[in-house]
Amino acid sequence: MAKSQDPNEQTFLARVEILNQRIQQAKKQDLYPYMHTSDAVEGVHVTVHGRPMLQFASYSYLDLLGHPKINAAAKAAIDEFGTGTHGVRFLAGTTRVHVELEKKIAAFKKTETAVAVASGYGANFGTISSLIGRHDVVISDKINHASIVDGCILSRAQFVRYEHNDMAALERALGEAPRNGVKLVVADAVFSMDGDIVNLPEVTRLCRKFKALLMIDEAHSLGVIGKKGTGIEEHFGIDPKEGLIDIKMGTLSKTIPSIGGYIAGRAKLINYLRHSIRPFIFSAPIPPPSAAAAKAAFEVIEDEPWRVEKLHKNADYFLRTLRSRGFDTLKSQTAIVPIVIGNEAKALEMTRLARNEGIFIVPILPPAVQPNTTRIRATVTAGHSLQEIDRAINTFEKISKSLAILRS
Ligand SMILES: Cc1ncc(COP(=O)(O)O)c(C=O)c1O
Repeated sequence: MAKSQDPNEQTFLARVEILNQRIQQAKKQDLYPYMHTSDAVEGVHVTVHGRPMLQFASYSYLDLLGHPKINAAAKAAIDEFGTGTHGVRFLAGTTRVHVELEKKIAAFKKTETAVAVASGYGANFGTISSLIGRHDVVISDKINHASIVDGCILSRAQFVRYEHNDMAALERALGEAPRNGVKLVVADAVFSMDGDIVNLPEVTRLCRKFKALLMIDEAHSLGVIGKKGTGIEEHFGIDPKEGLIDIKMGTLSKTIPSIGGYIAGRAKLINYLRHSIRPFIFSAPIPPPSAAAAKAAFEVIEDEPWRVEKLHKNADYFLRTLRSRGFDTLKSQTAIVPIVIGNEAKALEMTRLARNEGIFIVPILPPAVQPNTTRIRATVTAGHSLQEIDRAINTFEKISKSLAILRS
């Protein structure tokens, strides 16, 4: 890259250079773990660069990716509406399928209404940044997803982060917030890096006490927790009619094998958001086949309750067995299972060796997590058999012993 006289530009160029060198070095050593290309996908059985593997890094928690009813709904929508829309939803891009999808989401989440946005990322940052402004306060769990963080920054509200799931810290933050202005508390329902669950009963109690609005991101709880897979309220036995969560956000790209995000809640609030979320107003919508696929996926969750049951059994077995073999899986209670390695080089090597043995996992490295919690993140789905889970655990154990992550 050309040399520059400007120190700021030099720093920028050095950053670009350093990252490129890191990537090249990792690729040379066969340790680059990202963006590996799947040639074929059949449930948890994938072919990556021609090699058959068991997928343990999937967000398709209920194994709905490729479900025949969902595929058929997408194909029918292509025949009816084509592959895109006549532009943004707000102007000419709303089809019947979008409206039906939003009705289905509202029914599933037991809210008055819902709005669907083209990505979960846009749903989060668009909602937070349009809901609050410079005279308000947003209070966010320290390990909330990046799309929440970006929304908080963009909103220009006072941005307070509390220690992860620490209810005393949340109470302090609420108590210290200025009396005037809106207070918004935001948290993931299931935390995407740690797999643990927000303390919803306490968060809702505090929000009521301090008259704060509450927004919960259900990206990793929809289809995953609650007996019927309806998410965080069902998990805690809270009646949605109580309306304790003002803004229920979720994605259509994980359990729901499509693309998009939604915001569900009371009609007046959602109507306000429908007219103010910038990624909704100024960006193209979910394509009709994807909207139809998403709606069909909600129906499949209701029609095939065995999937949620099997996911719960698999997650429980996976966690219990890993812990019994000595792995540190933090406080995970769900299908997202962190396996703490605490060392970047070993996490990369474990990923490489596991993939060589046909188990596809991903490493989570700093700055995404604290260096001492550098980890492998493994996810289990309703599509895994117990034998497949055992195979993964045995592989992890063998590799961890060879790398001195576990004692032999
Ligand atoms: C907790 C959480 N929220 C929001 C998102 C964004 O969702 P999407 O990928 O649908 O844009 C993600 C995606 O990884 C997530 O994990």
